[in-house]
Amino acid sequence: MQDFLADPWKCFYAGVAVAVILFFAFFGVGGLADSDVQAMLSRWLHVLGAIVWIGMVWFVNFVMLPANYAMSDEERPVLLKYIAPNVAPWFLHASTVTLVFGLLLAMQTGQFMDAMTIGAWEGFAVPKSIMLGIGIWIGIIMWVFTWFFIWPNLKVVLGRVPGDKEAKMIARRKMRNFARKNLILTIPVTFAMLAGAHAL
Ligand code: HEM
Repeated sequence: MQDFLADPWKCFYAGVAVAVILFFAFFGVGGLADSDVQAMLSRWLHVLGAIVWIGMVWFVNFVMLPANYAMSDEERPVLLKYIAPNVAPWFLHASTVTLVFGLLLAMQTGQFMDAMTIGAWEGFAVPKSIMLGIGIWIGIIMWVFTWFFIWPNLKVVLGRVPGDKEAKMIARRKMRNFARKNLILTIPVTFAMLAGAHAL
């Protein structure tokens, strides 16, 4: 048991196995119609991706960056070597999982055009589509910030892209500013998504 708990990947697969059992049990007792199965799988992966992504945004803003500022120049390389490079793949890929399964879900539930046009497709008559559309566009903006503003600057900070001390300082500031913008957006996107999913 100690060996098992020492390995996060074993715990991850155990969680997946329990969820798969639950899924088949739910389906078996008629909790899911055949036609809902694909959308349910997308919804599950979408929300799982969102939890990891938003969790990472909060971790970076409230734990990693404050630690970075509090550390001395001698201590900082530890963070840059052991923590920051391991955070990056999680928020990058989780953001893409969230986006891809979110768009797929919108198609599977027949809401794609209504939501992408923020309700204009239905003459702005359906509050659910307007809210979902606002949520989706906030999510897309966050994904663009993640891949095209945070990641390129993080690469400079980590030394994967060449840059002198001045370039690293500018990259660090830009990265922080976009991480902060994403932090702001996590709160309305959660509201808009839930309202969009559960409104009439
Ligand atoms: C990146 C672009 C995104 C797209 C295309 C997208 C798309 C969708 C769609 C189509 C739904 C289903 C609405 C329904 O059932 O009628 C949904 C629900 C949801 N989304 Fe997103 N979303 C995105 C980003 C996010 C983000 C960043 C979060 C993080 C908070 C998030 C969290 C949720 C939650 C919690 C639900 C509710 C699931 C439910 O209660 O059924 N989404 N999303």
